[in-house]
Amino acid sequence: MLPAAEKVITRNWGKPDSWTLEAYRANGGYRSLEKALGMTPQAVTDEVKKSNLRGRGGAGFPTGMKWSFVPKDSPKPKYLAVNADESEPGTFKDRYILENDPHMLLEGVTIAAFALGVRTAYVYARGEFKFQAERLQRAVEEAYQAGILGPTVLGKPFGLDVFVVRGAGAYICGEETGMLESLEGKKGWPRLKPPFPAVVGLFGSPTVVNNVETIASVPTIIERGAAWYAGLGTEKSGGTRLICLSGSVNRPGVFEITLQTTVRQLIEDERYGQGMPAGRKVKAVIPGGSSAPVLAAHEIDVELEFEALKKIDNMAGSGGVIVMDDTTCMVRSLWRVIRFYAEESCGQCTPCREGAPWAARLLRKLEEGRGEPEDLEILLHVAHSIAPFPPIGLGNTICALGDSVALPIHSFVARFREEFEAHISQHRCPFGDRPWGHYGALRA
Ligand SMILES: Cc1cc2nc3c(=O)[nH]c(=O)nc-3n(C[C@H](O)[C@H](O)[C@H](O)COP(=O)(O)O)c2cc1C
Repeated sequence: MLPAAEKVITRNWGKPDSWTLEAYRANGGYRSLEKALGMTPQAVTDEVKKSNLRGRGGAGFPTGMKWSFVPKDSPKPKYLAVNADESEPGTFKDRYILENDPHMLLEGVTIAAFALGVRTAYVYARGEFKFQAERLQRAVEEAYQAGILGPTVLGKPFGLDVFVVRGAGAYICGEETGMLESLEGKKGWPRLKPPFPAVVGLFGSPTVVNNVETIASVPTIIERGAAWYAGLGTEKSGGTRLICLSGSVNRPGVFEITLQTTVRQLIEDERYGQGMPAGRKVKAVIPGGSSAPVLAAHEIDVELEFEALKKIDNMAGSGGVIVMDDTTCMVRSLWRVIRFYAEESCGQCTPCREGAPWAARLLRKLEEGRGEPEDLEILLHVAHSIAPFPPIGLGNTICALGDSVALPIHSFVARFREEFEAHISQHRCPFGDRPWGHYGALRA
């Protein structure tokens, strides 16, 4: 049987008033900060490095390594910008951290700031996260009143200000440099990299950008030690991770799982998905948010871990696992995904600005039974012009939003080509006319 995951991130969820400072302290909170303040900043960074913590925002970059890219001798101020934009379809974990345990995030922010020599940190919250941003803001105020934030942190000669900034609901502002532009008060157009934010970031200064879950993991790493945290995971990836399970399963939700958990186990295990609805079979699974390539049913014995998914040209991404059953039309699903990216493309790069809406129009044509034999090749050509596949990550655009258009197209067509062809040859969607989305009419 699958071993239970240690509760690293979710350990306080469900406890009374878990979002208050009083409850957080009663549950042992802010002791890691005290411990970290007794260490040298370098020792804190080294501990995070040794823990094998990898970024939970999408790219899975090693966090300690990112922190060590910040130049120590820069005369400029250094910043920490926490990415709480969480807009990737299928991803809804960070909002639970903000709701249930904002002080765990703030403790992580304070420890990271100490390690990095940061005096000002920002948390950039998705515009729609009104409730979550207000809860975090309340926690920030509690922390100031308790002397955890402000000119001195817990009485030590180190000060930190934290600002909660709300975005305006644009997916592109979750891309780290788009987020920095937005924090500077500009429209969220991603920047060319290099230079990377760790060297030239917010207001031209060295800036570490990390995801909410990444930073919320830091207090436990300091408390329990790097070796313990690394030991929970796999060779190259430490800890546990939050997974957002949605789609055709009996029990969707956010679960903290071990990195050794496979997609199949996540779907079937009693503690997680509890299987498929009666009579339904897995047809496809998107393992890492809608940017990730789709897996066919025979591929789901893969661990939900960065290296394992990379090995099969996929990605662990942001932890959004979307399960599709045998009633799902893959053309319609892909159309839905691509419509999102076409809507959210910032318009800077021609392949993405023009290619995403073009692909969406082609998919609509196929789904509505108006497709012609050459449309499938045109669709693949459009995807190829945005980003060839494989390998992942070689897109022709400034940011990876272009990849998020191309990878689903390549992978859906590679695995379900006959379904796309059937739409063309039958001049209709073989799954029927379902204007309310792929489940509504069938389930009703
Ligand atoms: C289009 C796009 C949207 C993104 N949206 C988010 C987001 O909402 N939240 C997030 O943490 N990372 C998002 N990312 C990834 C960030 O650019 C960045 O890699 C991440 O915040 C770094 O944090 P980490 O190292 O802790 O993962 C997005 C990337 C792209 C290309």
